[in-house]
Amino acid sequence: MDLQVRDCMTADYRKRFQKYGDAPESVGISSAGQRFRFRKLVKIGDLRNRRVLDLGCGIGDFYPFLIEKFGQLDYTGIDLVSEMVEFDKNKYPKARFLHHDLFAEPLAETFDYVMISTVFNYAMPGSGEYMRELLTHAFHYCTRGLGFNFLPTLVNFTEPEMAYYDPAQVLDFCIQNLTRKVVIHHHYERVDVRSLSTDNRLVSGPGLSHLSRQVGGFWQGEIG
Ligand SMILES: C[S@@+](CC[C@H](N)C(=O)[O-])C[C@H]1O[C@@H](n2cnc3c(N)ncnc32)[C@H](O)[C@@H]1O
Repeated sequence: MDLQVRDCMTADYRKRFQKYGDAPESVGISSAGQRFRFRKLVKIGDLRNRRVLDLGCGIGDFYPFLIEKFGQLDYTGIDLVSEMVEFDKNKYPKARFLHHDLFAEPLAETFDYVMISTVFNYAMPGSGEYMRELLTHAFHYCTRGLGFNFLPTLVNFTEPEMAYYDPAQVLDFCIQNLTRKVVIHHHYERVDVRSLSTDNRLVSGPGLSHLSRQVGGFWQGEIG
């Protein structure tokens, strides 16, 4: 992927964080939309006592959500924006946060689950390729499952700063390249784009997909 493009995205998130700090605006998503995604993502399995990698953790909001829901788990959050990671370390000293770029340097460990929330929403040239590369990397690190979400193309309203993906293509990519054990649900009727959330216009909500490594295991994923 084009590293310059990715660096622009990182710089943009850094700027937002400098401007908004500990607020949803820093990660460009409403609190409601964020929690909606978290709630769907954790349906991937019982994360209690599991090792969980939160890839693109932003300002660390997933961590308290996970602790509240599962009590005990072994959480690692990584992000490209060092300022966010420093913030996360101070705010949640019991959790592990790393300023880490998987593309530049592999992590010498694996996780039960890898979670990627809202990372693919950012519109940039080559966002499809970025998604494919990041999913490929992420899948390498999970022993049980990978959960992620994205905005599907099947919406009736789009915003230029958001990236949208054809869910059929995402599914096909996952099946052909990662695992056949993938389910996508595409049924939510949630207006998840923040600027639309007040006017009740209907767009299909965040796509969300769970990939599993569990042999013979039943699992479900959702997209909407
Ligand atoms: C929209 S924010 C979402 C943050 C968090 N997941 C949440 O839901 O609140 C996306 C974050 O992903 C990070 N990010 C994007 N690509 C990344 C990558 N390859 N590795 C680590 N972090 C990444 C960005 O720096 C940004 O902080």
